[in-house]
Amino acid sequence: MSLKLVIIGGGSSYTPEIIEGIIRRHQSFPVTDIVLVDVKEGKEKLEIVGELSKRMIEKQHLSINLSWTLDRKMALRGADFVSTQIRVGGLAAREKDERIPLRHGFIGQETNGAGGIFKALRTIPVMMELAEDVHSICPEAWIVNFTNPAGIITETLLKHSPHKKVIGVCNIPFNMRQSTAEILNVNPDTVQIEFVGLNHFVFGSKVNVSGKDRTAEVLEKLRQGLDYSPANIVNLGWSKTFIEAVGLLPNPYHQYYFQTKEVLKKDMKAFKENGTRAEVVQQLETSLFNIYRDPDLREKPKQLEERGGAFYSDVACSLMDSIYNNRRDVQTVNTMNNGAIPDLPHDAIIEVNALITGDGPIPIAVGQLPAQVKGMIYEMKAFEELVVRAGLTGNYNDAYTAMLMNPLVREEEGSKLLLDELLEAHKAYLPQFNSRGN
Ligand code: G6P
Repeated sequence: MSLKLVIIGGGSSYTPEIIEGIIRRHQSFPVTDIVLVDVKEGKEKLEIVGELSKRMIEKQHLSINLSWTLDRKMALRGADFVSTQIRVGGLAAREKDERIPLRHGFIGQETNGAGGIFKALRTIPVMMELAEDVHSICPEAWIVNFTNPAGIITETLLKHSPHKKVIGVCNIPFNMRQSTAEILNVNPDTVQIEFVGLNHFVFGSKVNVSGKDRTAEVLEKLRQGLDYSPANIVNLGWSKTFIEAVGLLPNPYHQYYFQTKEVLKKDMKAFKENGTRAEVVQQLETSLFNIYRDPDLREKPKQLEERGGAFYSDVACSLMDSIYNNRRDVQTVNTMNNGAIPDLPHDAIIEVNALITGDGPIPIAVGQLPAQVKGMIYEMKAFEELVVRAGLTGNYNDAYTAMLMNPLVREEEGSKLLLDELLEAHKAYLPQFNSRGN
């Protein structure tokens, strides 16, 4: 029997991670075919990653056919799973998302604030086209989306594309769980964190270890400096008052919203000294690809852990494994609310623990939003809806109001300034705006 995985954005430096994950799970998730797909600008990287992936598979003597192509439609034929990890416009576009806001005194980040809005606007048309292709070529396939902003992209596809077998994943809940297990000195499999909120805006509301509530202890550890930030975020710590009053585990991205001034100061300094994260990542990528080129390299190199998305493949691979085996285990995903959080719309995409079945995720009821964060979660969801609308239609006013309502911008003059400059900077990747004459 064949089991085919297509990786869109296969030339990404992260691909060896997912290959490693597939190799590790080969007994229970016996993939027979992997096709790496990329665009022509990524051809060279695709070949390097393709060759390395082949060597990794050969080393384990597994019979997995791995190939790579620029022909997406052809690759999708017969796919069972399609994982997506694309960056429209590449790191050069990310650099603009980070630099332009910083130049005007706003946080420039690839998934939050003005930068995040534009990453979404560039990505939405491409992902909609992909979902349409999947729906017509391999309608039974699951799309496992890691493409950022993962929550917004998953919301776009699940609500507006014809394809409904879409699940969003992120490494943040996974990192939170791993680090919690480490600090408590327990096996990560025994740790369950209940999550409430949205991608990159999720809170941990309860920590359970082997059935025992250890939330208070983890909150105390957080106060003492427990750090589960990915490589792209420098933890600033949380005050005693914040932890005690909020009583929830913040995720590393919350620093943008609750420590805004400090983060801006820190980012400005880094920007002046070493450039933005995109520039750091460009250097990292150059050295990673040099390492990947080595014909003697037959495994995922340790250096990949310097990327913020490290370990995402564990999330993506466990998810596919559980769907394939109808495991009904609990994993944290981005999926349709369906009443899990009664105060959010039924069809809103939330980041939540879900039972992973052969028919997809079933979100586990969380109950009402905690009063202390309810307002911000509502606000972020409303903001995401505006971004989705703007991304689909190219409507200037929707894009403007998304900018205006984002807590990291929220300024009349600044919103227009950032919007116009970013629209111009990214116009090659914004067909929906160009065709409307904006
Ligand atoms: C994080 C996030 C990802 C993000 C990445 C950036 O962990 O969860 O959504 O894409 O890191 O990492 P990078 O190494 O590209 O700065």
